[in-house]
Amino acid sequence: MGELLFSFNKDTLTIKPPKKASLVLRLMLSAFAMVCGIYICSICLKQMNLQNKNKFLFFDDFERPCSDTIVDRSQIPFLHYPKPKTFNRSECSGNPVKLFAIVSMQRSGSGWFETLLNSHVNVSSNGEIFGPKSRRNNVSSIIQTLDRVYNLDWFTSSSKNECSAAIGFKWMLNQGLMQHPKEISEYFNDRGVNVIFLLRRNMLRRLVSMLANAFDKDAKLLNGVHVSHVHSPEEASLLSKYKPNINITSLKSDLRGMESTSMKALNYFNNTRHIIIYYEDLIRDPSQKMMQVEDFLKLPRMNLTSQQVKIHKGALSEHIKNWDEVNKTLSGTAYEKFLQADY
Ligand SMILES: *[C@@H]1O[C@H](CO)[C@@H](O)[C@H](O)[C@H]1NC(C)=O
Ligand SMILES: *[C@@H]1O[C@H](CO)[C@@H](O)[C@H](O)[C@H]1NC(C)=O
Ligand SMILES: *[C@@H]1O[C@H](CO)[C@@H](O)[C@H](O)[C@H]1NC(C)=O
Ligand SMILES: *[C@@H]1O[C@H](CO)[C@@H](O)[C@H](O)[C@H]1NC(C)=O
Ligand SMILES: *[C@@H]1O[C@H](CO)[C@@H](O)[C@H](O)[C@H]1NC(C)=O
Ligand SMILES: *[C@@H]1O[C@H](CO)[C@@H](O)[C@H](O)[C@H]1NC(C)=O
Ligand SMILES: *[C@@H]1O[C@H](CO)[C@@H](O)[C@H](O)[C@H]1NC(C)=O
Repeated sequence: MGELLFSFNKDTLTIKPPKKASLVLRLMLSAFAMVCGIYICSICLKQMNLQNKNKFLFFDDFERPCSDTIVDRSQIPFLHYPKPKTFNRSECSGNPVKLFAIVSMQRSGSGWFETLLNSHVNVSSNGEIFGPKSRRNNVSSIIQTLDRVYNLDWFTSSSKNECSAAIGFKWMLNQGLMQHPKEISEYFNDRGVNVIFLLRRNMLRRLVSMLANAFDKDAKLLNGVHVSHVHSPEEASLLSKYKPNINITSLKSDLRGMESTSMKALNYFNNTRHIIIYYEDLIRDPSQKMMQVEDFLKLPRMNLTSQQVKIHKGALSEHIKNWDEVNKTLSGTAYEKFLQADY
């Protein structure tokens, strides 16, 4: 294209009217130039119109009802003023709403994290909305569900309705997220969804938690009811009495599999605005980590609380039946660090 333009320019430069050109020829030339000018102008105008139309289409979603609020212009595509079909945002209709998704894996503390987040007066995190398969059969049902959630038209016990300043939900990697990464990351980028990765460094601890939770599905240790999360130290110690036997044959490949899944997810959404929270850091200093999350979502800072209690505490050797075997298998490998971690 550049070359073409260049040669065209050269050609026009070399067209020099002969000195003794007749008046007719000059007139014809200037008429031609005029017609060309008008044509180019009209095309320019048309394009400007088109651009304007596109702009309006683009900003339709993000219409700002409160023109008096001062906002950072660079943030405009990421400020949402949803108009729910089901209720009025009333006095909070002028507050923008941040969209987020907690991306996590089972048994990584996401239940605890979500209750902490939901204790914020302006946060609605709606749990695992993609649990039911019908909502993640195909991309279109995923998008439809996302649209409803982000328009505040999804109701759970955590909905804060009018004065939600951040709306989101918890999305496990095995709930359709890894099957449609391209479409989902495009949606996230278009709508300005903020991704909160909640991951666990120690996959061995995660494995223990998964095995114990799977065991409890049948055993129902707490008064004959299966629970995934507990609210008192007594319940936690009862549940942690069960010590799973870990399959040594598949142990290393299981750990590798979990790590590569979370790496893959980080890769898929690397271009989306995100924050990575490790469960281990959250356990160590919840209030500092939650403050980071509040800042990430640009929420007013509040002290957040949760009733949930951690189930497996202390040295891992206390929680695995075939500990010696596990210790021997992982000693001297990249996973040795998982053996020592104590929290
Ligand atoms: C929401 O409020 C506007 C004016 O504040 C009113 O016109 C409209 O009828 C209300 N809609 C609902 C569903 O209450
Ligand atoms: C997607 O799944 C929903 C229900 O899960 C179904 O009703 C719909 O027809 C599916 N759409 C496509 C394009 O397959
Ligand atoms: C947070 O919620 C409170 C109480 O509902 C409301 O007064 C306040 O305006 C909300 N803040 C934001 C930033 O939406
Ligand atoms: C342990 O894992 C191996 C390989 O995946 C499998 O063949 C074997 O059946 C498993 N053993 C138990 C007791 O589940
Ligand atoms: C994400 O991108 C950054 C910068 O481009 C890079 O340093 C990082 O390794 C990437 N992370 C993953 C998980 O791909
Ligand atoms: C949170 O609690 C601490 C002490 O418990 C207090 O110093 C701090 O001001 C509180 N922060 C907010 C935002 O309420
Ligand atoms: C693991 O095994 C090594 C010997 O191979 C031993 O020194 C170490 O104390 C064991 N760790 C635990 C936590 O039992």
